[in-house]
Amino acid sequence: MIDRTANGGPQVLVIDDEAGILDSLRILLKNEGFTPHVALGGRAGLDRIATVSPDIVLTDVRMPAVDGLEILSAVRHRDPDTPVILMTAQATLQSAMQAVNEGAYYYIQKPFRNDEMVAILRRAAEHRRLKVENHSLKAEIRRRDKTTAGQPVGKSKSWLEVLRLAETVAPTESTVLIQGESGTGKEVIARYIHDLSHRADGPFLSINCGALPESLLESELFGHTKGAFTGAVKDKVGLFAAAAKGTFFLDEIGETTPATQVKLLRVLQSRQIIPVGSTDALTTDARMVAATNRDLDDEIRRGHFRRDLFYRLNVIALHLPPLRERREDIPLLVDAFLQRLGETRGTTKSLSQTAEEAIQEHSWPGNVRELENALERAWILTPGETIESSALPERVTARAPERLIEDRPSPNPTLDTIERAYIMWILQAEGGNKTRAAESLGIDPSTLHRKLSRFGAES
Ligand SMILES: Nc1ncnc2c1ncn2[C@@H]1O[C@H](COP(=O)(O)OP(=O)(O)OP(=O)(O)O)[C@@H](O)[C@H]1O
Ligand SMILES: [Mg+2]
Repeated sequence: MIDRTANGGPQVLVIDDEAGILDSLRILLKNEGFTPHVALGGRAGLDRIATVSPDIVLTDVRMPAVDGLEILSAVRHRDPDTPVILMTAQATLQSAMQAVNEGAYYYIQKPFRNDEMVAILRRAAEHRRLKVENHSLKAEIRRRDKTTAGQPVGKSKSWLEVLRLAETVAPTESTVLIQGESGTGKEVIARYIHDLSHRADGPFLSINCGALPESLLESELFGHTKGAFTGAVKDKVGLFAAAAKGTFFLDEIGETTPATQVKLLRVLQSRQIIPVGSTDALTTDARMVAATNRDLDDEIRRGHFRRDLFYRLNVIALHLPPLRERREDIPLLVDAFLQRLGETRGTTKSLSQTAEEAIQEHSWPGNVRELENALERAWILTPGETIESSALPERVTARAPERLIEDRPSPNPTLDTIERAYIMWILQAEGGNKTRAAESLGIDPSTLHRKLSRFGAES
């Protein structure tokens, strides 16, 4: 048997238990620009599928030991986009037609004419080419989405540790619990896990458990039957079911009520979901990733969160560090956000040195989300190419009034600028308490109020 007459055309694996047919097809295919591989009999065919990775499989239906239908199912299992063409004699015509219903690309009756065979193979090759193209297009879109939007940026030790753990658990089916302050990137990590998992082609669905009242949340999660409650005019598929073959992200799981927690526990234990108003359980194959910005240990102690549910969720625990504990990541995040803003708006802008310093030193209680919002706001407020610290939110610059002053284009800042910076500084030092700030400044609270509204900074 000749293996590979590499002439670059589509790889066709021909499987038949008659050596004569294999010989003549090999010559025909080679002459027509295909790259033929042949296997004598079904068993050899199965072996070759794995080693050749054919673009097209052409197989006889009736063969001893392993027949064409088994070949079909093996190929479809391995790569459903590989067209399988069945060669059938009159006696097996019925099962060949049946096989086309089950996913075979085509069947051709023996004896066949060469031009007929070649025409079918050409069409199958085109079909295959489109499928493959479509796939790489999708992968490319996913890759681009990741590099511009979702890709987690950061190089600090603690952030890299998070990524490493996420990469390790991604290919498993384990439930993951992501904990971290608001804006630390919990959803970013959940998507990262999904993108690196075997479920990447499946859906990534998410729900914010804190955003809906109990009954609505449950019908979103588990679905409902028609008539289950007023307004349920037809059956609804829940997200657990819709996320089949994909990942289901339960955000703010700490906000769920005890009743919902019991139901979630049942899903985690038995993979069973019961739609609201139904008595029949469905099974879900969704992989679950949950997140919360609450301290669940504390919630458990206070009786607000079920311990058993916590253990089920917390198979793998990811703790996202707050931004103030990984300041090395700030410049990278800034670059990534400025680049993204530049791409969407078609211009480039950069930070002045003082703006950069203010950003580096701010405590970022709202973490990455606060940073992202501050930059977007500053971008909009900046007509030129250099973003000055004055374009940043007050709370970012307030701690260092001298920065605002340095930042002035003129070497001599106005009294107004200094006054404003000093007031914001004191206000921050007093934790935002206006009465105490007014006291420190030696002015009347109403005067402070007036000044703040003149700066546009009452809140
Ligand atoms: N490491 C990161 N790289 C790039 N962007 C990030 C990173 N972390 C967070 N972001 C961005 O910051 C914003 C907040 O992230 P995300 O929504 O994942 O946070 P969260 O922890 O889910 O916040 P919340 O608790 O408020 O829901 C998003 O716009 C996200 O794209
Ligand atoms: Mg979130």
